[in-house]
Order: sequence, then C-alpha cells, then structure tokens
Amino acid sequence: MYVAAIIPAAGIGRRMGMGRNKAFLPLQGKPVLVHTLDVLRQCSIIDEIVVAVGEDDLDWCRTELRHLISAARCQFVTGGSTRQESVHRCLLAADSSTDVFVVHDAARPLVTPEIVQSVILAASDTGAAVCAVPAKDTVRISHDGEFFSCTPDRSSVWLVQTPQVFSAELLRAAHQLAAERRFVGTDDAYLVEQLGRRVAVAHGSYENLKITTREDLALAEAILEYRKGDGNRAGARDDAGQSSHDQSLSVTEGCRGDHALRGAETASCLRE
Ligand code: CTP
Ligand code: MG
Repeated sequence: MYVAAIIPAAGIGRRMGMGRNKAFLPLQGKPVLVHTLDVLRQCSIIDEIVVAVGEDDLDWCRTELRHLISAARCQFVTGGSTRQESVHRCLLAADSSTDVFVVHDAARPLVTPEIVQSVILAASDTGAAVCAVPAKDTVRISHDGEFFSCTPDRSSVWLVQTPQVFSAELLRAAHQLAAERRFVGTDDAYLVEQLGRRVAVAHGSYENLKITTREDLALAEAILEYRKGDGNRAGARDDAGQSSHDQSLSVTEGCRGDHALRGAETASCLRE
C-alpha cells in the first residue's frame, strides 16, 4: 500500500492578522509547518509527502527545508487560491500509484503519529475517515448574525479536524466532481460526501488544534510545554500499554453510540 500525505500550507492566514502565512510563524523556535512535517516524517506508513505552499515561499522551502526533502520523499508544489485547489494540486503531483491519501493541514502542528495511524485505520473499511472531537460548547446556527435560527443537539455535534484519510480513487473522484460542478467545500470530507459516500468518524484529540487566531499560537506553545512535562507520566502509561493519547481518547468513548444515532437529526437541523 502506497500512502501519500498531502499538506495544504498555501493560505494567507487572514484571521491570524500577522500579514504572513501562519504556516511559517515560529512555534517554539521553528516554523509551524516544520512541526507538522516532523510528525508526518515519524509515520513510517507514509511513503511520500506533498506540500502546497504559496509561490513566493516555494524557493525558500526547497532550499531551507532541503534536509526534509532528502530525508523522506517530500516535494513542494505551488498551492492555489483556495485550500481545495491546493489539495488538488498536491493530488496531481503525488505518485500515480498512490493507494491512500492522508490530507493534513499544515496549521495543525500538534497532530501525533498515533492520531494519523488511527485515522488510516478508521478509513480502511469505508475508504474515508476524518478525525473529529465532540463539541464542548453549545453550537447555535445564525444565518444573519443577529438571531439564532436553530440549535443542534450538542451531543450530536462534532468538530472536524484533519488528518482526513481517503482511498486515492475516492479522493480523486471527489475532486473531479467538485471541479465539474464548480463547488467548493471547506474540507475534503465534504467533497467525498457529495459523491454519496459515507465518511467514518475517527476520534481525535482536543490537543490537535488548528492555529487560526493569535491566541492559538500561545495555546500551542502551552500544549508543547505540557507535553514535555507530561513525558514521564506518559512513559509510565506506555509501560501499562496505554499511551497518553489513548488515555485522552477514552474520555470521549462513552458518547460514540449517541453521536452516530443522532447524525441525521443534526444534518436536517443544519439544512434549515
Ligand atoms: N490553505 C492552502 N491554500 C489556500 C488556503 C489555505 O493550502 N489557498 C491551507 C492553509 O495554509 C492551512 C489549511 O489550508 O494549512 C487550512 O486553512 P486555514 O486554517 O483557513 O488557513 P488560512 O487560509 O491560511 O487562514 P485564513 O482562512 O485565516 O486566511
Ligand atoms: Mg482559510
């Protein structure tokens, strides 16, 4: 099985408001993107990594991140004007014999090899799985920003993250359909759903946050520090056969059945 990771990193970081792509902002002294690539390089199941970056960053990446390129099969391509286009360009650049794509946002540097592995496993039956966590806050829908029109049952609401894993055939077909029908989704699971295919839920981690606004950088720094301090305890749990990540996942286990049952109800609410 040939597995290619696709890393969209060609955004402009508008919500971050720092005037530059957040993938290149420093997190504990190294760019966010490098943290993300370091985790993916630890995943022995991944054969190739294709990263989409802005045209202006291409030369810098190819020169400064040369050590990453030589260490794993890693290539940088020019991204597009939307995330979807950036993913699509990576899709075309990846080895044509790819069986499975792992799509992961550069902006989620706190992903772990265990999370990547668990999403790949979850996708093995259906050909499509996404990492997600149950919502902690109540979610309300407002179409006009003035009044709420709908409140989905919180126990049915999941916050979707990356990695998202798809069989190559499915992801290629999904992007082709989107191009033909000219629709844009905020993630790849949405495109796959437009093919009428089911996407499985893989339990993620609240630590796998997306760096979006300024405070997220401070939170990410804090989580990295916390992980350092947690190292010894995590080691102790590993001896007992359970990693720190497994431990955090088990907290969400109890909701699994409920979430599955109420999925249709939420979807109908969101369509209102
Ligand atoms: N991305 C991309 N190409 C784009 C837009 C986004 O590759 N044209 C990437 C981003 O670099 C990021 C991921 O997609 O790693 C998720 O996007 P998002 O968090 O929205 O990042 P930005 O688009 O950079 O941020 P913003 O929406 O605030 O401008
Ligand atoms: Mg964006």
